[in-house]
Amino acid sequence: MKIAIINGPNLNLLGKRESSIYGVQTFEDYFDLLQKTYSTIHFNVFQSNIEGELINYIQQSDAVFDGIILNAAAYTHTSVGLGDAIRAIDTSVVEVHISNTLAREDFRHKSYITPHAKGLIVGFGIDVYRLAVESFLLESHSP
Ligand code: DQA
Repeated sequence: MKIAIINGPNLNLLGKRESSIYGVQTFEDYFDLLQKTYSTIHFNVFQSNIEGELINYIQQSDAVFDGIILNAAAYTHTSVGLGDAIRAIDTSVVEVHISNTLAREDFRHKSYITPHAKGLIVGFGIDVYRLAVESFLLESHSP
């Protein structure tokens, strides 16, 4: 199984950014553990602070991966272009957010991703990425 993990703006700062909301672990440390836990899964991780680069990567990912885990971060709430990119591809996208966006400011309640995503996992801390992996494994094992 091949899974792409796509992280949007400021997620390169996990571990030092607003740690009371996003935790103290860097994504690199978390990903090391994730890769060890799922040693047979081939992961590709892509992070960008630039909207167009995220859209390019989503377009290039179509039919390359069995699934995409997307944390579009702040672009979730603003980007029609990212929503359209997900709409345009056949590969399933699971949207994740580390924090419970629906329990935060009103502007975080809107997502341009959710209507085109296979599912949404929010609020379980950085482990939302692992839960998204499990959702793809469940799908692959279902009859
Ligand atoms: C986030 C939530 C977004 O509202 C925020 O802009 C982020 C991170 C999360 O993972 O909780 O940058 O996507």
